[in-house]
Amino acid sequence: MTVAATANPAVIKISNLSTRFGGHVVHDDLELEVRQGEIFAVIGGSGSGKSTLLREMILLHRPDAGSIRVLGVDLQDIEDADALALRLRWGVMFQHGGLFGSLTVMENIGLPLREHRELDDAEVDALAAQKLALTGLDPEVGAQYPSELSGGMMKRASLARALVLDPELLFLDEPTAGLDPESAGEIDQLVRKLRDQGGLTIAMVTHDLDLLWQLADRVAVLAGGRVAGIGSMAELAEIDHPAIRKFFDGPRGRAAQVQTQELRESVVPQSAHLRSSSWKPK
Ligand SMILES: Nc1ncnc2c1ncn2[C@@H]1O[C@H](COP(=O)(O)OP(=O)(O)OP(=O)(O)O)[C@@H](O)[C@H]1O
Ligand SMILES: [Mg+2]
Repeated sequence: MTVAATANPAVIKISNLSTRFGGHVVHDDLELEVRQGEIFAVIGGSGSGKSTLLREMILLHRPDAGSIRVLGVDLQDIEDADALALRLRWGVMFQHGGLFGSLTVMENIGLPLREHRELDDAEVDALAAQKLALTGLDPEVGAQYPSELSGGMMKRASLARALVLDPELLFLDEPTAGLDPESAGEIDQLVRKLRDQGGLTIAMVTHDLDLLWQLADRVAVLAGGRVAGIGSMAELAEIDHPAIRKFFDGPRGRAAQVQTQELRESVVPQSAHLRSSSWKPK
């Protein structure tokens, strides 16, 4: 973790959060802080409440109790106008892309600009083309429809759209899930590039061990409705808690750890063939 990230103020602050679906308690007095400029990841077993937590952070689900502040704004009882203003300050890359099938890639990327900025067509196209290039997509891809894209291209196009309003905060839901190792490695590089450009805070849900070991500054493990552990992957690896051990002790957990150590010790850049598969507990 960078020293700056340690000292930085909270961009997301969650206190005493409780979420239930009927009698099923998903979050029970959960506390969490995401700091400015860090890459923060939420992990945990299936059903531990990761996606629900993400949905609560982006105003798609209302918790039963507790407080969530994002970019200094309390989400509880937020007025519509404030919610809209806030949505313009963050970008979201949904797990399945969330692109509109009837629009081309360029139209999808340009849509937030058309809806929220007073720009003419040429200006929208220029900005959309910039983000298309930033995410490493060829200009020709801009004319294609989502159904014509590979999984990796879809993720990039979705990321380009999430970035088009130059957000302060970026939410990524399983950014590499379902991708082949090479495409997943390219998404890692892209996330690294965004981080290195500075200024952006990234909060993500992921099962991808490579992404976690190589890019996440801090990781929160959800279990039993709470944060069972929080810290860098190296710090978490030392914690003796069953939900956390499950994550590190499997063969994939060990492989990703060893690879990261080898990568850090060598000067060879990260390459896709070194990638281990992602982890998901039973
Ligand atoms: N809309 C809903 N109605 C009822 N139950 C829900 C709803 N959304 C989530 N749940 C339940 O809440 C729990 C947490 O779900 P959530 O999707 O947040 O888990 P997750 O940690 O993202 O799991 P996964 O790794 O499988 O994606 C699960 O038991 C799920 O069935
Ligand atoms: Mg989920």
